[in-house]
Amino acid sequence: MLKIAPSILSADFAKLGEEITAVDKAGADWIHIDVMDGHFVPNLTFGPCVIKAIRSYTDKPFDVHLMIDPAQAYLEEYAKAGADIITVHAEADKHLHRSVQCIKDLGKKAGVSLNPATPVNTVKYVLDEIDMILVMSVNPGFGGQKFITSQLEKIKRLKDMIGDRDIDIQVDGGVNPATIKSVVDAGANVVVAGSAVFGGNYAENIKAIHAASK
Ligand code: DX5
Ligand code: ZN
Repeated sequence: MLKIAPSILSADFAKLGEEITAVDKAGADWIHIDVMDGHFVPNLTFGPCVIKAIRSYTDKPFDVHLMIDPAQAYLEEYAKAGADIITVHAEADKHLHRSVQCIKDLGKKAGVSLNPATPVNTVKYVLDEIDMILVMSVNPGFGGQKFITSQLEKIKRLKDMIGDRDIDIQVDGGVNPATIKSVVDAGANVVVAGSAVFGGNYAENIKAIHAASK
């Protein structure tokens, strides 16, 4: 069953708690939280203090996408703030295996994200350690960008590489009712959607993504 993780990057930051409760009630499976540092990506969002403050607004898993470099030094803070899944970028830090190990040692699910230009081989030797691969289908930093179609082939290749391991394939960027079917057909089972969910009726928007995925 497809999981939808609305990205609160497109929510109204002035009422983040209420927005999270609203998107939970509208049918979100996970809450996707985009952490940006103005260094790894050309934008800044929020850090552990904000995550801690919004934790009580839902019981749904907090899916924390760290677009920060370095990341490893901050993993414990994000775990303590209430993250359930922590995703680091393969392009950040120098020791991906160590970052993954650190997330697992903190008792959290570990994800690894690949930018659009990063090859699938990058995750080959951490496959036995991770719970999720996040395929960026836009260059990270901003919501509302156009889906990069070359990433469909990457999703397929990752699915083959994963084999029978229990690893989620998550796709992030430009996912909406027009692109969702190709993403699911390629092999993704979790999708992030920001601008396609926040705006208008959230429940209708989530329903429309599910409907178009079949
Ligand atoms: C981009 C973020 C995404 C973003 C997706 O760097 O990682 O999660 O919010 O936004 P949409 O769904 O609007 O492309
Ligand atoms: Zn994201």
